[in-house]
Amino acid sequence: MLSKENNELICRVGRGTPMGNLMRQYWIPALPAREFPEAGSPPLRMRLLGENLVMFRDTLGRVGALEEYCPHRGASLYFARNEEGGLRCAYHGWKFDVNGNCMDTPSEQPDKREKLCARVKAKAYPCREINKMVWIYMGPRETPPPFPEFEINLLPDAQVGEPQIMMEQANWLQNIEGDLDSAHLDWLHSRLGEDSPKPEVGLPGFWNPTGLPPILDTVTTDYGAYYSAKRLMPDGMEWHRVNQFIFPLHTMITLGNGAVALRSFVPVDDFHTMLITHPGHPCRPLTKEEEYFSGMGFEEVGGYVERTSDPRTYYLTKVNKDNDYGRSMSMQKSQMFLGVPFVGNLQDRAMTELMTNEDEEPMYDRTREHLGTSDAMVVTVRRQLINAASKLRDENTPPPNVDNPKLDRVRCGTFKFKPGTDWKAEAKPRLVVRENEPAAGDLNLIL
Ligand code: FES
Ligand SMILES: [Fe+2]
Repeated sequence: MLSKENNELICRVGRGTPMGNLMRQYWIPALPAREFPEAGSPPLRMRLLGENLVMFRDTLGRVGALEEYCPHRGASLYFARNEEGGLRCAYHGWKFDVNGNCMDTPSEQPDKREKLCARVKAKAYPCREINKMVWIYMGPRETPPPFPEFEINLLPDAQVGEPQIMMEQANWLQNIEGDLDSAHLDWLHSRLGEDSPKPEVGLPGFWNPTGLPPILDTVTTDYGAYYSAKRLMPDGMEWHRVNQFIFPLHTMITLGNGAVALRSFVPVDDFHTMLITHPGHPCRPLTKEEEYFSGMGFEEVGGYVERTSDPRTYYLTKVNKDNDYGRSMSMQKSQMFLGVPFVGNLQDRAMTELMTNEDEEPMYDRTREHLGTSDAMVVTVRRQLINAASKLRDENTPPPNVDNPKLDRVRCGTFKFKPGTDWKAEAKPRLVVRENEPAAGDLNLIL
């Protein structure tokens, strides 16, 4: 359980909040490059960390992010014209480039324009496009910190797949905590029996051959933490599923086939989170099936709702909390523990999106929970977040992987060891990025 203060400390991400300030120390993924198909294409509304933005690719091909409201008198730049190296506000024609520089104030007399332009700046956040993704830096530094060196940012573009996104209608922390909690695989994602018929949609479900719950063991690092969930196999071997948490909002969980993926839980605001899964392969381009697996088949459950210009409607699947996530009681009776399709984080969302605080907002009140040993990683990461957010607030010290992005060069993996093996020693060398070597994945229990 957390005190109310600590819960608020690490849940809220708006400007000026301790956790929001911590996230703003980092480059974070914002939108896939495919959202900006060509130079001069129409601006998009975006909302990140509770701030309303307009993102666009200017006529020179640069991607930019400006605060939505025009510095003149606050009109929405969503309606701006994207022309000749900047956005021209539709209200009085003032124009700004991707760096926020004022290029023109045509509603003023010609002799006044230059001076006024020199005084006015739009709030602009640096963007960087790499391997099909646009990242953004929303922090206070004049020169942004070095770019994160996650493997999917280091691989050649051809070996990296399209980012797959699922909007989750809840606070970022309760969403990311699912990736830190391996025990729920044996329940939420499980099939009813080893021989249960495969459901018609989605993945067939997780099956733990011995039925014993996993034993968790956590390791803290300079960049976050990783943990093993150890399960006993019928042959007496021990299976370790080792997952990563990397500051401030990323995880890595094993995909199989030697592929790698970064999972980022990016807060749109306090009550909406984009889960971005960005897959790649260290040795070769991904196959169609691998892209499908990492994309997790949203089209199988009807795809996304038709979006409006409100970013909270982006990547929102048609099956969602308003229709019980497409639950089928016949699937629940004969195939899966929960009759919601095992597609992306849909089953997880059925659990996390309905967790609320006393105002019935989807930000769980953790003063009410009761934790067990299977929550070890959740506890470890919460403690790290509380410490990091407090240290930044009180001493102005960010975590080490802000300025040393080499710390991001890590992987997750699964390993089968003989009982009594020192898993930490054995796994450690395979939890770092190794060029042209597939990621470790000895066994996949999603049958
Ligand atoms: S409000 Fe944008 S130019 Fe006037
Ligand atoms: Fe899950």
